[in-house]
Amino acid sequence: MSEWKDAKWRASMAVSLDYAGMMSSQLGDKHGLSAKQLKALKPRLTVADRALKLARTSGKLPFYDLPYRQKTLDEILPLAKAAQGRFDSFLVLGIGGSALGNLCLHSALNHYHHNELAPKKRGGFPRIYVPDNVDPDRLSALLDVIDLKKTCVNVITKSGNTAETMAQFMLLVDRLQKAVGKKNLSRHLIVTTDKEKGNLREIARELGLMTFEVPDGVGGRFSVLTAVGLLSAAFSGIDIQGLLAGAAAMDKRCLKSDMESNPAMLFAALMHLSTYEQGKNVHVMMPYSSRLYLLADWFRQLWAESLGKKLNRKGRVVHTGPTPVKALGATDQHSQVQLYMEGPFDKVVCFLRVEAFDRDITIPKLFKEKDGIGYLGGQSFGKLLNAEQAATQAALTENGRSNMVLKVPAVNAYTLGQLIYLLEAATAYAGELAGIDAFDQPGVEAGKNATYALMGKKGYEAKRREIEGRMRSSKRYEA
Ligand code: PA5
Repeated sequence: MSEWKDAKWRASMAVSLDYAGMMSSQLGDKHGLSAKQLKALKPRLTVADRALKLARTSGKLPFYDLPYRQKTLDEILPLAKAAQGRFDSFLVLGIGGSALGNLCLHSALNHYHHNELAPKKRGGFPRIYVPDNVDPDRLSALLDVIDLKKTCVNVITKSGNTAETMAQFMLLVDRLQKAVGKKNLSRHLIVTTDKEKGNLREIARELGLMTFEVPDGVGGRFSVLTAVGLLSAAFSGIDIQGLLAGAAAMDKRCLKSDMESNPAMLFAALMHLSTYEQGKNVHVMMPYSSRLYLLADWFRQLWAESLGKKLNRKGRVVHTGPTPVKALGATDQHSQVQLYMEGPFDKVVCFLRVEAFDRDITIPKLFKEKDGIGYLGGQSFGKLLNAEQAATQAALTENGRSNMVLKVPAVNAYTLGQLIYLLEAATAYAGELAGIDAFDQPGVEAGKNATYALMGKKGYEAKRREIEGRMRSSKRYEA
């Protein structure tokens, strides 16, 4: 039985949000939020909550129901089981929301150096690669280290047209054909895309490739709990049922209508007040866990692409949105924390603190005679890392710097599922509070269209002339 099936264990694994470091009782009236401010936001939170619940029940926000999509598990689990031991490498081709969730799951839940382990130590699961870019140096290096005859490639693009992903796909189709022969392509290629639209869907049909769908209405950055994130996870042995169970448990909490019992609503409310009433629009996510660093990376996209908007829901130009930043404890204490501590009062730092590490190490009792370092001996690295988190938090608070802590009892599929769901649900609330549509991304589309134009896609000729004209005139500013 998976451990998440045990109720007592699940209760011990609940993620919580400690927001004392946001409040005026800790930071003082100038920099902290008052209970009155939080109370005053409640009517707007109620409106936001009702609007989101209505959208959910009328099927407009299907990301909310992903933890309960049994179909996804039924499709993925048998396939992943049958493939165990067949492949040495699993390559994910995708970008943005079609890649960042995969990276987050692997770095949090697989052995931190999964790809360097010998096959037996990996339990027969393949090495996982997610280049998430079209950098030719990186792609060439990747092709140097994988054996295509033993590689499974999962190409993921909701639109089925994204230039970066489709260019990677073309490269891999070509290389695979040469390595395994055209007739064997379908044994090495799996497609994840929209169920009907896009070039990739068409090609999959023509080549007879196995396909998974990105459910209708689920945008890339909200899709990690679909086949987009779960397929590569299952292929590498991650407990995807545990992930969904964690997400479902968080959903139950986020259905509550009062801020104090709904962590997503609380997170959004605190960030909203800090941004719009205190001008703190730099939101730093700082895990004290290397395994959770790429969760901060995934969150960075979620928060930025969802909340950074030109127009509000009424069509008025607002150019709004916080700037999410990722940092890593304790590493960035020696890089960023000076700025967070003494720079402008424009930041909220959200720590991620892991209460129990899977494998702690005791620092050997050496150099006892040297007072400067001798005290470290006999204590654990986990204790040191968490002491650094607590110390940084205390110092920030002392300096009037807004901070909160997402407390994670341990890093596992169940807690990661909770975190992912909490942050997605918080994003939905934050969008409502800001009065913008958190689920579109017109700015990304603009960049995609400009790339199509510069790369000579049919129908984009006028755009190309316009961009090239601008490039020519900007030459005079080159030094
Ligand atoms: O969140 C989003 O919608 C975007 O980041 C997309 O995931 C990204 O642009 C890639 O798009 P696609 O999956 O269509 O290739």
